[in-house]
Amino acid sequence: MLKLNKEMNIRKCADINEMGKKAGSMVITELKHNPKLLVCPATGSSPVSLYASLANEASKNMTLFQEMRVIPLDEWVGLPDATGSCDSFIKEHITTPLHVSKDRYFPFNTAAENLKEECERMQYILKKQGPIDLCILGLGQNGHLGFNEPANKTTPYCHIAQLATSSQQHDMVANSQTKPTMGLTLGMQDILLSKRIILLISGKGKKEAKEKLFSKEISPKCPASFLWNHKSVECFLVDD
Ligand code: GLP
Repeated sequence: MLKLNKEMNIRKCADINEMGKKAGSMVITELKHNPKLLVCPATGSSPVSLYASLANEASKNMTLFQEMRVIPLDEWVGLPDATGSCDSFIKEHITTPLHVSKDRYFPFNTAAENLKEECERMQYILKKQGPIDLCILGLGQNGHLGFNEPANKTTPYCHIAQLATSSQQHDMVANSQTKPTMGLTLGMQDILLSKRIILLISGKGKKEAKEKLFSKEISPKCPASFLWNHKSVECFLVDD
């Protein structure tokens, strides 16, 4: 089990591979303790090496993952095909290599006609399956978590998010012809009710977000700052 922290435990890593191995071994320890772990994974570049280290473990010990459950953190709205979607990312990096069966994976349906109802459906799934045992987060360039964008107040539950400009320019959708302006995301309370949180910070354009986060001032202008209120956050940091 990850130990309970009085505040965020920050570990500097030499590179993304070291970050992936260290964070990956934490996930593996958690899974050994609770095989039915409900994991909420971020997408993006920061967690790729963590998921690779889980895939490597699965190639040696597949049974470890046979009960693990996955609920995504967020999803783009309006991508014309699967390319760049969080769902396709999770299938490629998590559910396929770890053999997570369909009954243990709960993706967003962005093709739903009524996205508000889709958010309610996800909230219901989270209520039934949750709370999240282990939430794996990345830090947005603007300090967002999932698609909880900087604002005057936080939104507690799953909601439709108007994406900030930096989110609309994220690498995941850089090659997509359609540029999403909206996303679906679990809310800040959903995230903060997670029993454990791993925050992975790497990549370009994060200087300002890191300064805001590490100033420890808690503000909805930097959603990640709310992690200071959580008692078990492990932060892995690669200074680029
Ligand atoms: C994206 C995703 C987030 C992700 C974040 C950081 O907008 N929706 O879930 O954590 O940005 O991504 P990266 O790790 O690629 O910097």
